[in-house]
Amino acid sequence: MPRTPARTSAPASPRRDPAGKRMTIDIGIDSKARAAIAAGLSRLLADTYTLYLTTHNFHWNVTGPMFNTLHAMFMAQYTELWNAVDPIAERIRSLGHTAPGSYAQFGRLASVPDAPAEPPKALEMVRILVAGHEAVARTARALFAAVDKAGDEPTADLLTQRLTVHEQQAWMLRSLLED
Ligand SMILES: [Fe+2]
Repeated sequence: MPRTPARTSAPASPRRDPAGKRMTIDIGIDSKARAAIAAGLSRLLADTYTLYLTTHNFHWNVTGPMFNTLHAMFMAQYTELWNAVDPIAERIRSLGHTAPGSYAQFGRLASVPDAPAEPPKALEMVRILVAGHEAVARTARALFAAVDKAGDEPTADLLTQRLTVHEQQAWMLRSLLED
């Protein structure tokens, strides 16, 4: 019969995890909620990074009479997306989880498809980016219920900022497709 470990008095450090390797996190959000929010933020990170790469790709490869406008617009957009990935990843870390950061992980997590292998025509690029911004907005919005329930205001603030940007960029890109 296996021996039952003897009950000892209070552990030497109550702030250490069972492996005794690092401090546990006690920010008022339980571990299950932190894990669920970190998983949602990982999907948001993957979507944001994928859309960043597609937008940079289109900055390089756009052609046609709208070249100047789109080349400059895509640069502003990929720069914004590039700056956005860091706070998302660091929020995941603040919640006690590891931030994904490889193409394989992003490929598994993203709802935004990879850029087409052959550069599309300029207006098709715009359509792809509208769909991308809308997809990232849906990913961010889907996380709100869990974030609200957990009282995770910093993540709610981050999601609100990201939604504002993605919905605005989608509108600006969509406007290029209208007469
Ligand atoms: Fe450039």
